[in-house]
Amino acid sequence: MAEWLDEALFYEVYPQSFCDSNADGIGDFKGLMGKLDYILSLGCNAIWMNPCFDSPFIDAGYDIRDYYRVAARYGTNEDLKELFKAVHEKGMHMILDLVPGHTSDECEWFKQSKKHERNKYTDRYVWSDDIWEGFESVSGVTGAIRGGTERPGTCATNFFNCQPALNYGFARKDPDKKWQQGVDEDGPRATVKEIEKVMDFWLSMGCDGFRVDMAHSLVKNDDGHLATIKLWQEMSGYLKERHPDAVMVSEWGEPEKALKAGFDMDFLLHFGPSHYLELFREDKPYFSAKGEGDISEFFELYVRNLKLTKDQGGLICIPSGNHDMRRMAKYLTDDEIKIAFMFLLTMPGVPFIYYGDELGMRYVEGLSSVEGGYERTGSRSPMAFDATANAGFSSAPEECLYIRQDESKSYINVETEEADPDSILNNVKELIGFRREHPALSNRADFSLVYCKKNEYPVVYGRSCDDEALLLIFNPAGRNEKLSDEVKELIKDKTVIFSMGDELSADTVPGKSAHVIMIK
Ligand code: GLC
Ligand code: CA
Repeated sequence: MAEWLDEALFYEVYPQSFCDSNADGIGDFKGLMGKLDYILSLGCNAIWMNPCFDSPFIDAGYDIRDYYRVAARYGTNEDLKELFKAVHEKGMHMILDLVPGHTSDECEWFKQSKKHERNKYTDRYVWSDDIWEGFESVSGVTGAIRGGTERPGTCATNFFNCQPALNYGFARKDPDKKWQQGVDEDGPRATVKEIEKVMDFWLSMGCDGFRVDMAHSLVKNDDGHLATIKLWQEMSGYLKERHPDAVMVSEWGEPEKALKAGFDMDFLLHFGPSHYLELFREDKPYFSAKGEGDISEFFELYVRNLKLTKDQGGLICIPSGNHDMRRMAKYLTDDEIKIAFMFLLTMPGVPFIYYGDELGMRYVEGLSSVEGGYERTGSRSPMAFDATANAGFSSAPEECLYIRQDESKSYINVETEEADPDSILNNVKELIGFRREHPALSNRADFSLVYCKKNEYPVVYGRSCDDEALLLIFNPAGRNEKLSDEVKELIKDKTVIFSMGDELSADTVPGKSAHVIMIK
């Protein structure tokens, strides 16, 4: 197990929107390289960069054309290697995005696969053997590419229409459909080997691991994901043997499966069973002062998953957001965001901060879709560093920017927030510093749920390790709440070591406040 994860705190960089070094309006490796000190200044020591590979960008790079070459707009393979080096020189780590489930329809493998004559790539994708036969009865397929191929068949897609599904076989095969291959057949095995080769390629170049896109999506008709889990056990085993310090975090949203599959960490996400959206988003977020939220279902599953995954040594990651969901600033005020960050930065697992969330960057409404972003485009607007042109993101003319800057709140940027002691940015830095000072808050320290009732505030949990025990009390609701007898007893004569909002008393937690109490 990669030890560096024990101390890791990640920052997600959407490369096209982070920092543009050559004034073409789009972020790039050199731009990011110049901002490593900024990321470090937050207290983050690891970076996840979204896909940066050659692509027609119909899905912002999640449609890869060439797995072995970076997109020219970000730089060259050599530049990326330099970036890894610079990252390591600063004591940081960096993971790339691995997209194993599908390619772009412009990928050379797919071009070959469409041909009539059999070749090395004929079985690289999931194909039916009849142009009129689709995948309605197959689970794990989003649509079909029909027509436009020499080959008399239909190809399954994994997400958008431009993303044909790579073939890892079928767990449950329909005996009448010969085209449904088993996971052990040659076609699926060759796909596995190719993806292992891709991982090897970038790891050897200096990357520290991968965030794995749609990790659950590989094997089709895979009830309970059992075959996909088995496959990842093999692939992660292969990777760990060759690169013991490499890490893999899955976009799966079901830690009990993902960690069993060999991932070091799994994200809680805006889809899946985790109730993650109820924390900071949707109509009644728990962290809103409206005080109408519920966190009990979130914690019920979280606690169950912590228990289930304890022996696997893996971690559950709760991100502040990501490039696929609306930013939390759409739903929460600045003060609410601060308490939300206090929660994110005191929970176990590896925190992930989505670029700009540390500033309270807004979800930009009403943008036209850029590169398949659709409603996600509003969460992908350029990072705001200072008050210069385009908020320091790029010196290109405004109309050339990849995505339009947020105009309605242009005062939000790193420079102004650094100067303001009450800014979200300074608050996040302080919280990260606090997390690092307290071993009980470290990624692998224990967690226990102390008080959590349906539709109620506050929520109270403990964090502990051998030498230290802390109690955390959160009352984001805009009204005072009484503490339970058990909590009152626990905090009696103990010291509050960190607070947001008004002071805690012996029996009441003020509205819009959160507190850390030293128990041991
Ligand atoms: C994941 C990515 C998303 C992408 C999709 C297809 O959900 O996070 O951005 O569009 O997979 O690859
Ligand atoms: Ca650029």
